Amino acid sequence: MEKQKYSRRFFLSASAMVATLAFIPAGVKAFYENVKKLVVPLKEKLPLTLSINKTKHSLSVDTRTTLLDLVREQLDLTGSKKGCDHGQCGACTVHVDGQRVLSCLTLAATVQGKEVTTIEGLANGDQLHPMQQAFIECDGFQCGYCTPGQIMSAVGCVNEGHTRSVGEIKEFMSGNLCRCGAYNGIVQSIQKVTQ
Ligand code: FES
Ligand code: FES
Repeated sequence: MEKQKYSRRFFLSASAMVATLAFIPAGVKAFYENVKKLVVPLKEKLPLTLSINKTKHSLSVDTRTTLLDLVREQLDLTGSKKGCDHGQCGACTVHVDGQRVLSCLTLAATVQGKEVTTIEGLANGDQLHPMQQAFIECDGFQCGYCTPGQIMSAVGCVNEGHTRSVGEIKEFMSGNLCRCGAYNGIVQSIQKVTQ
């Protein structure tokens, strides 16, 4: 008796579901088909050719990999730091085709064919970049964790010409946080390079 009740309920539910599916507009079905097509490629590997610190690399990367994870995890260039991983601290700053970018917010797939410079590529052999030298001379760091990002951003700040006053330097370096509070030395380093 119970079995017959269940079977009847099951039959009614199944009929209702089939009827509902039949009335889903074609546009909605097409939308979900397109979403499926977009989601599947996101899981795939992508061939990536780029230059990092003037060395060509041909790699295979997960399409979800950030530039920060690519340089740190796949290429062992650990100078760029993962502070917040959310675009808030600037510790991961690198240059892409000469422009400073936050590598934690940059998908590796978007730098196809580009030139990436990390802190490891800034010096000329044994000769420090003038900004690296200035950070040493002006006490631009304490613990050093934020320093690679600060230096890459400082070079960008100078190249962009945002060094006309202390206020302008502070504004255009405001995306780089320093928990040690070495800000005065950082500003002085930038001023020294700009002179
Ligand atoms: S780690 Fe990229 S902004 Fe903080
Ligand atoms: S030097 Fe320590 S966080 Fe900046």
